[in-house]
Amino acid sequence: MREPASDTGLTIAVSKGRILEQTLPLLADAGIELVADPQSSRKLVLDTSVSDVKLVLIRAADVPTYVEYGAADLGVAGKDVLLEHGGDGLYEPLDLEIARCRLMVAGCPDQPEPRGRLRVASKFVNIAHRHFAAQGRQAEIIKLYGSMELAPLVGLCHYIVDLVDTGNTLTANGLAPLDPIADISARLVVNKAAMKMKHRRVKMLLSALSDAVERRRSAE
Ligand code: ATP
Ligand code: PRP
Repeated sequence: MREPASDTGLTIAVSKGRILEQTLPLLADAGIELVADPQSSRKLVLDTSVSDVKLVLIRAADVPTYVEYGAADLGVAGKDVLLEHGGDGLYEPLDLEIARCRLMVAGCPDQPEPRGRLRVASKFVNIAHRHFAAQGRQAEIIKLYGSMELAPLVGLCHYIVDLVDTGNTLTANGLAPLDPIADISARLVVNKAAMKMKHRRVKMLLSALSDAVERRRSAE
């Protein structure tokens, strides 16, 4: 179990973009607000209205790593990122019910089952590998970092494994969802040592955020 970086205070790792945008209202409802606008500065460590709580801004895929190593006590990460990472060294106590989407296998509609070895492109290589292996289908998984929807169009792969929300990106590129893998939402993750050593502080935050999630659900 890796120890938290500091004995006092809480550091929460969040990625810029939709996770930060959708996490801030929940934090505000839990009594934690940013003191400065994150858009107007290049700072990566952000103070909040609660003196011992800081936010650190990192890439979405790095959140589990920061939390696992105790460089952040807590983090907000998509379930997709957690499934890909494996979740070792982390607790996942709360579904924040934000950044909802689905992880899907997608491809050209009406294409016949490809002959020979399947080629599947994804940024989620572990998830893709597990999914096709569980179906007993041998697949070569090709790692991509973005714009997955292009890959089947130019013959790089037969299928992609990607996130789908409205389906607009698939449709705009002549693709269709074929096989669901998992429903996705963002989760609060906690470093295992921080959960023990900062138990009271972590529990307080967890309870306040859980109440905020509940209030948001009731208001919908
Ligand atoms: P990076 O931080 O490296 O830019 P990213 O591009 O994956 O990573 P986002 O696109 O902001 O970051 O996605 C963050 C998380 O939001 C994803 O891990 C997923 O859980 C969720 N997500 C991604 N795309 C959608 C979408 N279209 N609709 C809803 N939620 C999404
Ligand atoms: C995500 C995902 C899809 C798209 C799906 O990309 O990778 O491309 O959203 O959403 P839709 O079904 O509503 O069209 P995003 O917009 O986050 O771009 P990025 O992956 O390049 O950051």
